[in-house]
Amino acid sequence: MNNKAEIDNAINKFVGKKGILIPLLQTIQNIESYLSLEVMRYVAEKTGTKLAHIYGVATFYTMFRLKPQGKHIIRVCQGTACHVSGAKTIMSEIMDQLKLSADQDTTNDGLFTVMPVACLGCCSLAPVIMVDDQTHGKLTPDSIKNILKKYK
Ligand code: FES
Repeated sequence: MNNKAEIDNAINKFVGKKGILIPLLQTIQNIESYLSLEVMRYVAEKTGTKLAHIYGVATFYTMFRLKPQGKHIIRVCQGTACHVSGAKTIMSEIMDQLKLSADQDTTNDGLFTVMPVACLGCCSLAPVIMVDDQTHGKLTPDSIKNILKKYK
């Protein structure tokens, strides 16, 4: 937990109100970038909520992240247009370039996190990825190396 003072502020803002858990966890995730077990324990203690309940909410909703993320987020579109245009090959190329194993989504140096996502809304550019908020389209496996280079 790196931002205790900010987390305390968030808790103080929400505590005592009804239905606070989800907005509180979202606020804390925005501060810390993910929800560590340590932070969930702290919220449990400060709000009098059972840790099992907090953990249940944090694991149920896909918007919550339980692991630290890389400095750059690579969203790889898996929507229909991208799927038929080779999204799988693009994903494999990214995983190879970043030396990620199948069960790993973040590089060991903490530089990149790769996540499959639904349609990014620019299907005419398929296959598409987004690195942070920059869209890259009409990709080929060969184009991946140069894109990643810009962020290293
Ligand atoms: S399916 Fe990939 S952008 Fe729409």
